[in-house]
Amino acid sequence: MEAVSRTAQWTAAARALETERDDRLFADPYARTVADTIGFDLLERYAGAGTVPFLAIRTTYLDRAVVRAVAEGGIRQVVLLAAGMDTRFYRLPWPDGVTVYELDRPALLEAKAAMLADEPAPAGRERRTVAVDLTQEWTGRLKEAGWRAEEPTLWVVEGLLFFLPEEAVRALLANLSGHSAPGSVLLGDVISRAALLNPLSRPFMTALAEDGNPWLFGTETPERLLTECGWAVREVRQPGEDGADFGRWPYPVPAREVRGVPRSFLFTCYLPTGEENAA
Ligand SMILES: C[S@@+](CC[C@H](N)C(=O)[O-])C[C@H]1O[C@@H](n2cnc3c(N)ncnc32)[C@H](O)[C@@H]1O
Repeated sequence: MEAVSRTAQWTAAARALETERDDRLFADPYARTVADTIGFDLLERYAGAGTVPFLAIRTTYLDRAVVRAVAEGGIRQVVLLAAGMDTRFYRLPWPDGVTVYELDRPALLEAKAAMLADEPAPAGRERRTVAVDLTQEWTGRLKEAGWRAEEPTLWVVEGLLFFLPEEAVRALLANLSGHSAPGSVLLGDVISRAALLNPLSRPFMTALAEDGNPWLFGTETPERLLTECGWAVREVRQPGEDGADFGRWPYPVPAREVRGVPRSFLFTCYLPTGEENAA
């Protein structure tokens, strides 16, 4: 597995810890299996201000947004970009007829398939894995797997954008909006550029770079980035703000006007339908 793919085991380890709390926000009963020992080693190595509570908040925010998008928007095709060790296919309450596409590097998908080989697929839903490099053309592979561009899609880009250079981030987000039917939804997260540069982040950033998966991209203006890439922004939330706290965030949330603050942003975007455009 490539170095960057091991970070999927790191985030799975954080989900395992949340799952094992008495006051858990979600249950991911597969997380400990897919994290393996390396996930917990990385959790220790990348320990930093707020990593574990942030990952619990990110998972919870996205779980709820995913469930809402399929329930309210009637979306039946879900694409998890850089799915890593995400087990939402197994653990979320999907409506019948949903197809979940999991896109990631080939070695990660093979390792995950081996680890979950004994898990029966829940009834009424389908899971398809697609081996890709998201910095190259990949939509052809997704179409071959059965995805239909003319129907609305729920895209989830969780824990990926900071690994990519800015041109690749913009190309990916624009590619998604360009290939999405009206009514599609995009969920994900991005960090501030200050998070890359702040001296307090240095040990964490150095460890990531030493391991071969440096963080490269951040922005102070996620709304602008998303809009410029063709998306209508429904909301952007920092951990600790209303709708992205869940009783887990232990720090104050500095106002957006304060410059130079390491931040994470969770976002929900959509492509308006004809009716919304006309309104
Ligand atoms: C931090 S993990 C996040 C995984 C999962 N979305 C989560 O939140 O737990 C980053 C993931 O991005 C994947 N990844 C990184 N660069 C990629 C690329 N160019 N193409 C496809 N997947 C990539 C890695 O293999 C890894 O699974």
